[in-house]
Amino acid sequence: MSAISLLQSAELSTDYRQQLQQQFGLCITTEPDGWYLSMQQGALVLQNSHLPKQGAILVDFASGASSYRRQHGGGKSEAIAKAVGLNKKTQLSVLDATAGLGRDAFVLASLGASVTLVERNPAVAALLADGLRRAVADPMLSSVAGRMQLCHCPAMQALKNSAAVDVVFLDPMFPAREKSAQVKKEMRAFHDVVGSDDDADNLLAPALQLAQKRVVVKRPGYAGWLADKAPTMAVTGKNNRFDVYVNAAI
Ligand SMILES: C[S@@+](CC[C@H](N)C(=O)[O-])C[C@H]1O[C@@H](n2cnc3c(N)ncnc32)[C@H](O)[C@@H]1O
Repeated sequence: MSAISLLQSAELSTDYRQQLQQQFGLCITTEPDGWYLSMQQGALVLQNSHLPKQGAILVDFASGASSYRRQHGGGKSEAIAKAVGLNKKTQLSVLDATAGLGRDAFVLASLGASVTLVERNPAVAALLADGLRRAVADPMLSSVAGRMQLCHCPAMQALKNSAAVDVVFLDPMFPAREKSAQVKKEMRAFHDVVGSDDDADNLLAPALQLAQKRVVVKRPGYAGWLADKAPTMAVTGKNNRFDVYVNAAI
């Protein structure tokens, strides 16, 4: 895992630069070498100076897949909604302990859940914070974004110190086999920037301690169980499997 710098540019205001440095401990650069963050058209983006074709990676809840799923998605009949229990009760509290680019958290919040997004990687957490900042300012998204709260810390810390939640959601990195260009692009960035989540098995026990109702673990269909522990049930989606460990009925 490499340290990610923030590009000093005219588009990055002094106030915002200081805020990002303070909140996420990012270093400033004027000559990026490899992965770096920069401001582009009002959004914080992740890019690689050696991979010009890679394109910019950002958290954008207003367009693309997130927006499509919010407006046309299967809603409560989606596998993730059933796995979390949002098909039974909408106002659940969820701790997403491996938030990544926040797509799953956004789907859950769109369906009514209050979601705490935990992300330990400083660059990914900065992208998330920036995506949430823009979503809060967007009248179409502000109510959903208002149910999403970022916590930049290790999952273990959040799992041990949080107030009780209904559901803990886990989606640690797993070697990808997916073929779509978009997934490939993002997976490449993620593997370079985040590394592999070799400690993921350790999260299941504290997650089960904290969750009042259930723990949901998102896995590729071909992957084994987290910590080799058999779930109570599994909900199979189009590209993923959601292993559900039930503590109490919703
Ligand atoms: C596969 S991605 C999650 C994708 C996410 N579900 C989404 O919808 O965008 C896994 C993320 O979890 C983060 N992560 C993994 N282990 C973590 C831990 N122990 N504490 C906090 N974050 C963790 C990684 O940095 C990475 O960003």
